[in-house]
Amino acid sequence: MTFHREETALIPESDLEGMSLDTLAVRAGQIRTGQLEHSDAIFPTSSFVYGSAAQAAARFGGEEPGNIYSRFTNPTVQAFEGRMAAMEGGDRAVATSSGMAAILSTCMALLQSGDHVICSRGVFGTTNVLFQKYMAKFGVETTFVNLTDTQEWASAIRSDTRMLFVETPSNPLCEVADMGALAKLANDSGALFVVDNCFCTPVLQRPLEHGADIVIHSATKYLDGQGRCVGGVVVGPHKLMDDVYAFLRSAGPTMSPFNAWVFHKGLETLPIRMRAHCDNALELAKWLEQQPVVERVYYAGLESHPQHALAKKQQKGFGGVLSFCLKGGRDEAWSFIDATRMISITANLGDVKTTITHPATTTHGRLSPEDKSRAGITENLLRLSVGIEAVEDLKTDLYRGFQVLQNASNI
Ligand SMILES: Cc1ncc(COP(=O)(O)O)c(C=O)c1O
Repeated sequence: MTFHREETALIPESDLEGMSLDTLAVRAGQIRTGQLEHSDAIFPTSSFVYGSAAQAAARFGGEEPGNIYSRFTNPTVQAFEGRMAAMEGGDRAVATSSGMAAILSTCMALLQSGDHVICSRGVFGTTNVLFQKYMAKFGVETTFVNLTDTQEWASAIRSDTRMLFVETPSNPLCEVADMGALAKLANDSGALFVVDNCFCTPVLQRPLEHGADIVIHSATKYLDGQGRCVGGVVVGPHKLMDDVYAFLRSAGPTMSPFNAWVFHKGLETLPIRMRAHCDNALELAKWLEQQPVVERVYYAGLESHPQHALAKKQQKGFGGVLSFCLKGGRDEAWSFIDATRMISITANLGDVKTTITHPATTTHGRLSPEDKSRAGITENLLRLSVGIEAVEDLKTDLYRGFQVLQNASNI
């Protein structure tokens, strides 16, 4: 009998190079064992065995490649890392226990006491706390700037600036940074340009192609897509990722094999999910703009959005998250949330289920009143992470909120 393929063979790495992202999401980074499973195996083991004492020594000494201990080598985690690296177009990915662990590992590996960071004001609240409270304790100072004002970034550069950190589009106001301009600034000043690509995922934007040095994800969001696991990942060139990996090996903010398996499988449907999220979000954003009790909608897909043209240039879609301000304050925002019956009241985003959040008292609740006001987190602001349910059902549920407010104000 003639076999056309080795039984355990997968697509050769060289073939993957020319493939589209939709194919990479399904095919890149798979590991197949001698059992010939079609879906991916999971390796829930803390350590691996050796054929001899000499082999154990060779593995630990780095003379022989292979698995050692799951804090830093696990095949399921490596499968997820391989797929992520292929999808972001980077040399190597390092998976971590959460999105915050990905940001922390990047900082611990690549910064040192006396370094200066410039970070956009419009970042996830906990990222802000990490830089402001914890990195400061170890002598890393952070200047926060307006995400969209490239001139403000330029003015903040100092001789000790080592990192520019941005989240684009931002959480929750969907502001868009000019990645090409920031990459040039970072490059000219010898700093690293780090992009949190959580909102777009590689399906909608690949920051490394715009000059970023490192891409970070909270895998907890769209990469999983069904709200099951917490995890993170850092992607970039070998010379930087080797340091991030060395930190992970020593400090242990490791992704579990089970979580890696969930994320790895989640990536297979990421491209089609992202397209459905984008379609629903755009339709809802347009609909929300027409509601009498809505003061303002933040979504880069709307022509009214100040960075609409930039988003169109550097993204393949506008994403699934939008925010809007109601006429009124916290009471109106909470009444609106409480009137919905299907949409989940939860702080996570990127789920196939639509979620609604009051950022001022949840995700950004730990910011000082001044920082909230500078970041545009007002009491009347609501964030929607638009899922993939039928958009008409989402409108019906949101309309319950509008009815409560309209009845209260007799609009
Ligand atoms: C943009 C962004 N980055 C990072 C994080 C942190 O990720 P994790 O919750 O997985 O630690 C979040 C969490 O909401 C986020 O929204």
